[in-house]
Amino acid sequence: MRADQASVLLELTPMQLDQLDTVMRIERAAYPISWSRKVLEDCVASTNDCWVLRYDRQIVGHSILSNVLDETHLLNLCVEPSLSRNGFGRWMLRALIQKAMTRHSTIFFLEVRESNHRAIALYHSEGFNESGMRKNYYPAENGREHAILMSLDLSFDVYT
Ligand SMILES: CC(C)(COP(=O)(O)OP(=O)(O)OC[C@H]1O[C@@H](n2cnc3c(N)ncnc32)[C@H](O)[C@@H]1OP(=O)(O)O)[C@@H](O)C(=O)NCCC(=O)NCCS
Repeated sequence: MRADQASVLLELTPMQLDQLDTVMRIERAAYPISWSRKVLEDCVASTNDCWVLRYDRQIVGHSILSNVLDETHLLNLCVEPSLSRNGFGRWMLRALIQKAMTRHSTIFFLEVRESNHRAIALYHSEGFNESGMRKNYYPAENGREHAILMSLDLSFDVYT
């Protein structure tokens, strides 16, 4: 089922500690080097906005935002791999941008591995620009990998 046909059954709900088994299963399946359970626990306990994406009440992805003043930083965006390329990532990203606009953020930004072509394609197609590079930002299987910094200008919202 594609997200655009299933959107009535899709929702973002706040991540709960008792959902971390499922979140960790998806996280480990989706990333070559995933976050640890401790990092996710700390996120849920922090002021970050931690979300699970539910399709028909089943968890199919997750995302984490950090909000500081008028900036929103996307720390994690992840979809269950067996459901990939069905529009769920795009649906979740758009919902997160909407949340940032609702809180009057003027910029929405993120880091992405330079080898992560599918995520980069998603961000470009949603209007993000490449605004910098963070050298050796990520651990990699053989050393370190650069991050591309991508950002979406939301400041037009200030004038509307
Ligand atoms: C990146 C991710 C969230 C995308 O979620 P998804 O539900 O698979 O993506 P969607 O179906 O919404 O696709 C959105 C766009 O992403 C790109 N994309 C997604 N999967 C792709 C693939 N296998 N090959 C090429 N492009 C792909 C395309 O541009 C696609 O648009 P299109 O289908 O109209 O061409 C998902 O692949 C994922 O969780 N990856 C692992 C975690 C990760 O890398 N997160 C990003 C961290 S910065």
